[in-house]
Amino acid sequence: MNSSDHSSQNITDLVQHTLEDLGVRDRAGVQELFNQLEVRLQDYIRQIRDSDEFKKISRGETLERGERHPSVDTEAVRVLWLGRKQGIVRFITDNWLAPAPPELKREIGQGLNALRASVEEKIASLINPPTVVNEPEQGIDITLPGTRRTVGVRHILRQAMDEITEIFFALGYSVEEGPDIESVYYNFEALNIPEDHPARDDQDTFYIDARTVLRTHTSPVQIRTMEKLQPPLRIIVPGRAYRRDTPDATHSPMFHQVEGLAVDTHITFADLKGTLDYFLKAFFGPEVRTRFRPSFFPFTEPSAEVDISCLFCGAQGCRICKQSGWIELMGCGMVDPALYSYVHYDASVYSGFAFGMGVERLAMLKYGVQDIQLFFQGDVRFLRQFR
Ligand code: DAH
Repeated sequence: MNSSDHSSQNITDLVQHTLEDLGVRDRAGVQELFNQLEVRLQDYIRQIRDSDEFKKISRGETLERGERHPSVDTEAVRVLWLGRKQGIVRFITDNWLAPAPPELKREIGQGLNALRASVEEKIASLINPPTVVNEPEQGIDITLPGTRRTVGVRHILRQAMDEITEIFFALGYSVEEGPDIESVYYNFEALNIPEDHPARDDQDTFYIDARTVLRTHTSPVQIRTMEKLQPPLRIIVPGRAYRRDTPDATHSPMFHQVEGLAVDTHITFADLKGTLDYFLKAFFGPEVRTRFRPSFFPFTEPSAEVDISCLFCGAQGCRICKQSGWIELMGCGMVDPALYSYVHYDASVYSGFAFGMGVERLAMLKYGVQDIQLFFQGDVRFLRQFR
């Protein structure tokens, strides 16, 4: 074999021989051999590229039964050229490079590297045809670790509201809701808070127009429910309320309340006390004691403020309870009969009690949250503590 033209020879046969066998003795001869290999390589690649199957796949079409996916041929080409034990590159290393005279080694080495790179590049271009846009740069490596998706949790305020609701469910209460955008009639008037009543000052209000506000409390749902339903009724109303407050550690212009209302015959203040004492022990723990102090709300008579024994010092007196041993928690009272005239209940037959609590306040005390703003900033480092 003295000819330098080995192009008609089977390439697997070609690389089984040493250069000496092939009659190649100089650098030009080595280059010529590698050129011929490159031409053969291109033939293999072109065959795949010109196949109907490859064209279909490139156009995004689906193959029919009996058609072979081009990746099968691509893989065969890869094994033929780069296969570890039986690949052409392997044979060249063993049969051409290893026994070659020192003056040719460098040329063979370079040819070998260029050939290997050329095979890899051409195979890559078959796997990811450059004509296809919007494809990822690399193929999918199924051995890489997956993307971990964290499971979300209910917001801590939602959890607190659900917990409050659950406790009242067990007492036979059901849930009612009302609109955040409320009429002045429901928010004030029907709750016995007339136009010039000073209680309207207490609740700096967002007015939408002269007759419409963002509700300043959930109490308007008391009226809406009594208009809709006849006694006996026991409802709680979880929801948002709004006041023109400047945000600080204990104030937010948007916050949450849970309102309660029970109307029936023979309901007394003792029922109110028993219900809220039960609720507060269920929510904060059985060791909690409750205290009812006289207060004033336009829609209840008599009215009371409910305190619980301080959770932080066991009622010994600390900074949080301002040394009193008690923490002010919520408002309540017996439904003022004036409300019944708005909803056409017979005040001589029915009596009831109502209460309202701030969810943020309850949650801050229960979970030891120091700043109300944390509830609304959406910082996952805060939120994920409450899974
Ligand atoms: N609506 C009152 C407020 O937002 C809270 C309240 C007090 C609700 C007494 C009641 C109640 O139902 O009886 O300040």
